[in-house]
Amino acid sequence: MHIVVEDLHKTLGTTKVLDGLSLEIHTGEVCVIVGASGTGKSVFLKHLVGLMKPDSGRISIDGEDIVHKSEREMLEVRKRFGMIFQSGGLLQSLSLEENVGLTLREVHRRSPDDIRDVVAEKLNMVGLEGRGDQRPSTLSGGQIKRAAIARALTTKAECLLFDEPTAGLDPLMAQTIDEVISDVNRKTGATTIVVTHDLISVFKIADSLHFIDKGRAVYSGGVEGFRKSQDERVRAFLERDAHGRDSLRASTQSGVQRPSAT
Ligand SMILES: Nc1ncnc2c1ncn2[C@@H]1O[C@H](COP(=O)(O)OP(=O)(O)O)[C@@H](O)[C@H]1O
Ligand SMILES: [Mg+2]
Repeated sequence: MHIVVEDLHKTLGTTKVLDGLSLEIHTGEVCVIVGASGTGKSVFLKHLVGLMKPDSGRISIDGEDIVHKSEREMLEVRKRFGMIFQSGGLLQSLSLEENVGLTLREVHRRSPDDIRDVVAEKLNMVGLEGRGDQRPSTLSGGQIKRAAIARALTTKAECLLFDEPTAGLDPLMAQTIDEVISDVNRKTGATTIVVTHDLISVFKIADSLHFIDKGRAVYSGGVEGFRKSQDERVRAFLERDAHGRDSLRASTQSGVQRPSAT
């Protein structure tokens, strides 16, 4: 899915949240949108799936404008996306297998046999094979994230959206989720958009990245260029993060790395 965003503006309340946001996302890539909290990243994702409309600007998907689509037309567009929510969004009363099959059952009305096969395949893809009978309450934070990814994969999404996928996870789980995201992108070829302020993730998984500051992209390009950027807004972000408050992190300014998994 090829996405072009041009000069997007959005004011919410009295805040100018998007202030001329322009960026391009290429088919099949892992695109990371990075920036401090409150810079409009989640608001941007909402525009992409039509949950919010801009005050002005253009968003095109595979060459087709989506800003002027009706709510009904947007339902079709939205089906092309798989969204992985921060909380995972699993229902406690259902087993893992039932949770992952939920969209196929409720939205796509697929037969139980079909659903069972697809669910097994997707659980396998995220490393949760054999856990279909478990309740969400018996899963770790990282496993819940993986289950949410498996569910998003059941509908053959062309574009996967992750909003802060590693937030609240310890470094090892965060590393596993990064690996699952890269792996799923490779295996499915789905365009993958990851919104995060986790620099460790950024450097590991991004094919391209856009750094958002005050509602606009002030750096777009590769990881190395970002690291070396002399833009003072980029430097401030990188240096702030390097001295960040998160004591679980082993990040340093020069080498950003999590403790290795054993
Ligand atoms: N529905 C809303 N109404 C009013 N303000 C909002 C709304 N959603 C987000 N905002 C504001 O927009 C700004 C950007 O929010 P958000 O996109 O969630 O930031 P982040 O980059 O952390 O994801 C914040 O100041 C937030 O308070
Ligand atoms: Mg957000």
